[in-house]
Parts: sequence; structure tokens; C-alpha cells
Amino acid sequence: MESGEIHGSDKKRRRRCFILAVAAVALLLIVVAVVLGVTLSQGREEFKDTFLERCQKFKGYNCEHIWELFQQAYVNQDPCEVPPNAYDALIAATPLESSCNRLLFWSKTRDVVQDFARKNDCFQAVEETLLGSVLNSLTWCGKKGSKETFTTDCPEWLDCENNPPRSFWKRVSAAFGDAACGNATAMLNGSITVPFDSNSIFGSIEVKRFKSPRVKNLNVVLVIEKNSVTNCTNPSLQNLVMVLDKGISYNCLEVPRSQIKECGSDPEKPCGACWWQ
Ligand SMILES: *[C@@H]1O[C@H](CO)[C@@H](O)[C@H](O)[C@H]1NC(C)=O
Ligand SMILES: *[C@@H]1O[C@H](CO)[C@@H](O)[C@H](O)[C@H]1NC(C)=O
Ligand SMILES: *[C@@H]1O[C@H](CO)[C@@H](O)[C@H](O)[C@H]1NC(C)=O
Repeated sequence: MESGEIHGSDKKRRRRCFILAVAAVALLLIVVAVVLGVTLSQGREEFKDTFLERCQKFKGYNCEHIWELFQQAYVNQDPCEVPPNAYDALIAATPLESSCNRLLFWSKTRDVVQDFARKNDCFQAVEETLLGSVLNSLTWCGKKGSKETFTTDCPEWLDCENNPPRSFWKRVSAAFGDAACGNATAMLNGSITVPFDSNSIFGSIEVKRFKSPRVKNLNVVLVIEKNSVTNCTNPSLQNLVMVLDKGISYNCLEVPRSQIKECGSDPEKPCGACWWQ
């Protein structure tokens, strides 16, 4: 009898313990879910905020409308099945001013170009155009069955061909190539054995959009560093000349990286004076 009572209250205590444990775990799960949910939706809100904030630095555009067109390219899509032309409406809504002699193309020289073009008003890289600057170094994607923009769990650049950022950069680069006129400048990397890569965005898209007689010259600036292995006689540059539209003339200059750096920090220098003596 006595042992039965003890046994009974033991059971009760155990059940109470069990209920408490379940409640604690449930509460913990709810807290985790709420925190995670808030963080995720904050990530998404942050993405839109960044987009609008960067867009509003450009005067005279309806940034909410640009955001809507941007989203339409990839929301509710498989994040590996967004082709470059998904961005056609977005590109059409943000036409580039045709920009003679100023456009700066680059391949494998991101480090030097981004710094240079930002400081130097003579040249504009695609990262200084409205869409280029808004989306520079961002990642985004959609998911089937959702109207949201995601910034995590998105495919990486190389994971699949038609991921949203990669297709965007291809599409905007095609438009940037179309805007070239007069002298186009390309900064290529003299520290690698193949400075002109025909599979790069520059080699596979931009160069092919240069049309004579709108584009008169392509000036290649081969960035030379101490460990440079290349000069203007590099065979890959012959391939570049071969794919250029007939009628566009070609020049190549070997320019030390230090000289480009100096030039970027001197706003008084006349355009072109960075490398033409
Ligand atoms: C050229 O390529 C090398 C090797 O990838 C890299 O270390 C260097 O920073 C690049 N140069 C420029 C100017 O970006
Ligand atoms: C265009 O490039 C040529 C060399 O190809 C150069 O002599 C000329 O000064 C450049 N013109 C402008 C406006 O940049
Ligand atoms: C250019 O590079 C090639 C191959 O590395 C070398 O043989 C040649 O002497 C270089 N030319 C000049 C002018 O530096």
C-alpha cells in the first residue's frame, strides 16, 4: 500500500516532468522559429532597402517601379532557370545614355577597375550604371511557389548557368556593350597568361556588341604589375582582334598598376591622360 502510493506520486511527478519538458522544448522551438523568421524577413527587407537606397542616388527614376520590374525577372522561378532575357523589361526601363569615349570594360581586373572608375569621372564601368551599382555584389533569387526575394540559399555563380545574378550580369553587360561609342577602353590583366578570355563576359558578350562605325577604337589597357607574365604581344590578344567587328581599330598599351592608381586619385587629370602621353 505504502509502496503503491509512493509509486503513484512518482508517476505523477514523472508525468509533470514530461509535460514541463515538452512545454520547454515547444517554447524553445517557437522562439527559434520567431527569431529565424524575423532574421530571414529582415534579410529580405534589407535587400529591398539596399536596392531602393542605391537606386535613389540616381535622379529622375521611379525606383519602386524599377524594383517591381527587377523582381518580375526571378520571383516564383526555379533559381537555376532564369535566362538573361528575363531582365529585358528591366533593361528597357533603364536605358543607358550612349556614352562616347567613356565606357570602361574589364576582365579579371576588378580590384583595380572598381577603385579607378569610382574615383575617375572620365570613365564609367558597368558597376557605375544605375542597375550595375544597385546590384553590385548582391546575391538574390526566387523560389517556385513563392513571391519572395531570397538572399540566402541561392545558387552560386558557378552552380548553374541561368542563376539570377549571373543572368543579370550577362544581360546588363550586353546593354553596356551596345552603349559603347567612339573609343571603348578595356582593362585586362597582365599578370595572367591569358589576358583575353573568350569565355569571360567581356570576351563572350561585350566585345561582340561593339559595332563599327559607332565604335571607332578599342583601346586595351594591359595592367602591368611586378609579377606580370604578359605584354601586348600575347597571343590571346590576337584572338580579341579577330572577333572585333571589321572597321574598329585596336590599340594595346602596357600600363603599370601604380600609374592607374595615381590617376584614379587625381581628378584634375584630363581624360585619357592616364595612359596617352
Ligand atoms: C590580375 O590577376 C591576378 C591573379 O588572379 C590578381 O592577383 C591581380 O589582382 C589581378 N590584377 C588586377 C589589376 O586586378
Ligand atoms: C581615342 O583613342 C585613340 C587611340 O586609339 C587616342 O589617340 C585618342 O586620343 C582617343 N580619343 C579620345 C577622345 O579619347
Ligand atoms: C613580350 O612577351 C614575350 C613572351 O613572354 C617575350 O618573348 C617578349 O620579349 C616580350 N616583348 C616585350 C617587348 O617585352
